[in-house]
Amino acid sequence: MKRCIVYFSKDGNTEYTAKLLASEISGDLIKLTEKTKRDGVIGFLKSGFQAVSKASSELAGEPWNLIEGYDFVFLMTPIWAGNGTPAINAFLDKADLKGKSVSIITLQSDVSHKGIEKVHDYLMKRVESKGGMTTECFALTGSTPGKFAGEDHLKNEFKRVLMSSDL
Ligand SMILES: Cc1cc2nc3c(=O)[nH]c(=O)nc-3n(C[C@H](O)[C@H](O)[C@H](O)COP(=O)(O)O)c2cc1C
Repeated sequence: MKRCIVYFSKDGNTEYTAKLLASEISGDLIKLTEKTKRDGVIGFLKSGFQAVSKASSELAGEPWNLIEGYDFVFLMTPIWAGNGTPAINAFLDKADLKGKSVSIITLQSDVSHKGIEKVHDYLMKRVESKGGMTTECFALTGSTPGKFAGEDHLKNEFKRVLMSSDL
């Protein structure tokens, strides 16, 4: 089975965890890069607003074309303002997931992951609407906004994915 990991990461936590996963499953990494930067307080506020509005951002390239030929797609995104990110929304707008299995992995600062089921439900519905089937959803704890949680912490969080799925 050919597997890839599509991820967005602003502060490196999701990216580090995506790389752990890639080396575990020998999967290919597909990084989502936004055309516009999100710097400073204005960037933070704009990001939260866009996430709540379930807006999509403009991505560099055409990453949705890179998933052709993969049977299994891991979708990884941080949580912003209680939602997924504009980058993952943009990817889902254009991705064709017909016949593909999908696993969703989210990272956030809130250790209780309060309300994450709603976000996972939303993302699962979007996956289904593009013809994919979600097999599992994982909620991991990353860092407080703008920080990197550290390798040890993220390796430990990643163990939860390893333990509860048949990678
Ligand atoms: C704009 C913004 C909004 C955020 N909102 C939330 C939130 O609502 N709940 C939460 O638990 N974490 C929130 N976070 C924290 C991130 O989810 C957390 O730092 C995550 O590890 C970031 O992943 P990254 O390093 O891959 O970008 C927010 C971070 C940013 C930048």
